[in-house]
Amino acid sequence: MNGSEITILPFAPEHLEGFRRCVGAVAREKRWIAFTDMPPPAETKQYIEWMLANRLPFFVVLDGGEVVGWCDLSQTNRPTQSHIGILGIGLLPPYRDRGIGRRLLETALEAARARGFERITLHVHANNERARKLYEKLGFRFEGVMRRAFKVDEYYDDVVVMGLLFGEERAVA
Ligand SMILES: CC(C)(COP(=O)(O)OP(=O)(O)OC[C@H]1O[C@@H](n2cnc3c(N)ncnc32)[C@H](O)[C@@H]1OP(=O)(O)O)[C@@H](O)C(=O)NCCC(=O)NCCS
Repeated sequence: MNGSEITILPFAPEHLEGFRRCVGAVAREKRWIAFTDMPPPAETKQYIEWMLANRLPFFVVLDGGEVVGWCDLSQTNRPTQSHIGILGIGLLPPYRDRGIGRRLLETALEAARARGFERITLHVHANNERARKLYEKLGFRFEGVMRRAFKVDEYYDDVVVMGLLFGEERAVA
């Protein structure tokens, strides 16, 4: 594992099991994302088919062929929300704090902009300082907080809503 072996690629069907394992590992930490374990195979397959069919931005981080992270920009199926991408991101613990998350997020945001999204929405746990800092650095703004909206094993956290508007810089200027 060193920086030169790390690649960021668009998700391809051969990454499916690795992606599921990676989400499962981050979920079992029970701190950062809404899952607490690996999503069921059928659910993952359906989600991925939908992501690919709708050409939604979806990237994986590979270390020597192993999936060690992901970033997906999904959507609701409501027509009034078709301009919004909903961000999910995660890296396995050994790959954190090395600048990979920033590279991954920049790649995904570029793809989101190219696809025509106008807004990116995300939910982040209030105690997840590292993720919040990263989002702020890339232009996301704090939009509100859902108090005690995350609970696992009697551990609670607030859930912060953040949003990025592409072109906001121009709108404000
Ligand atoms: C959140 C996550 C994707 C960030 O990726 P990362 O590779 O660890 O972050 P980076 O190394 O790219 O750091 C990004 C920035 O945050 C800052 N940062 C890193 N760790 C930090 C910490 N503990 N506290 C505050 N800021 C921190 C860095 O200074 C960096 O800024 P810089 O590029 O100006 O130096 C990754 O840590 C992760 O997968 N965490 C667990 C899952 C998770 O939290 N997912 C998000 C759910 S909303």
